[in-house]
Amino acid sequence: MNSNIRILVTGCNGQLGRELKIHFSEALPNLNVIYTDVDTLDITDRDAIERVVLDNDITHIINCAAYTNVDLAEEEKALSSAVNSIAVSNIALAASSNDAKILHISTDYVFDGTAHLPYNEADKVNPKNQYGVTKRLGETMLIGHSPDCIIIRTSWLYSPFGKNFVKTMLRLAATKPEVNVVSDQIGTPTYAADLAVVIAKFITARQWASGIYHFSNEGVCSWYDFAKAIYRIAGIHTKVNPIPTRDYPTASARPAYSVLDKSKIKATLGITIPHWEESLADCIDRLKQMS
Ligand SMILES: NC(=O)c1ccc[n+]([C@@H]2O[C@H](COP(=O)([O-])OP(=O)(O)OC[C@H]3O[C@@H](n4cnc5c(N)ncnc54)[C@H](OP(=O)(O)O)[C@@H]3O)[C@@H](O)[C@H]2O)c1
Repeated sequence: MNSNIRILVTGCNGQLGRELKIHFSEALPNLNVIYTDVDTLDITDRDAIERVVLDNDITHIINCAAYTNVDLAEEEKALSSAVNSIAVSNIALAASSNDAKILHISTDYVFDGTAHLPYNEADKVNPKNQYGVTKRLGETMLIGHSPDCIIIRTSWLYSPFGKNFVKTMLRLAATKPEVNVVSDQIGTPTYAADLAVVIAKFITARQWASGIYHFSNEGVCSWYDFAKAIYRIAGIHTKVNPIPTRDYPTASARPAYSVLDKSKIKATLGITIPHWEESLADCIDRLKQMS
């Protein structure tokens, strides 16, 4: 069956794109995959996407490309909308030229964070910032053009690659005896390597299971808990001080609570998901090996 699959991955140099490439090459080496990023395929260019789709008879598009700078998005409204909303619609239209299926990644920031129980896929969305608004619009435009798509909403993504909270905390520890980290935003980290495994399962499943899904690692924590665990696992003695969000002003408002309910994805794929601390340990191991 895999020989009939020809995949286009966008945003392949990002955190998730790189983990996807590693997973596909290790676990599914015979899979036919074209990896692109903005230098080879700008997803704001609909004609360019359509050319790649038709020239390579693409059957599946995995969209890992996105504008992910949450704070800068408040300033760069046009660019964040172009990449996270309009380009997702471009992908859908280009995919339809070859009846290709789309798997797209979205975010917990489509929610406003006022809930006290994990968000499920049917819960009301109400993004609080420009990034969340652009990602939500991307979802609705995609579903409008391509109701058969798969959308995976994820949260607090990190990996050994690119910019993320884990790497920032490790970098700060090298120069600071203590760090202040917000303790009143609650969510769940997601190891991009675990998300890559899940994406591969959707792509290679016997039946295409269209719909919206939530995915993160198991467990719940604050950014403060996350920082403490990073230092504990890495064997670093930097002190972490809990602070409220009001003492760490950012350009963009964040949801106070964005834990995702993963029941649907676990039932659909028949998977168990690693706890966030277990996956964090794997990431820190890899970072040590890379340094
Ligand atoms: N990071 C998080 O905490 C988080 C949380 C929830 C959901 N998500 C979602 O998860 C997905 C993957 O995130 P990530 O952290 O892997 O993102 P990332 O590391 O920022 O990677 C995104 C990639 O897309 C590329 N890109 C930007 N504009 C593009 C364009 N016009 N055409 C083609 N490629 C373009 C970026 O290139 P440049 O680097 O050159 O711009 C980058 O290589 C995204 O949909 C994101 O919204 C992320």
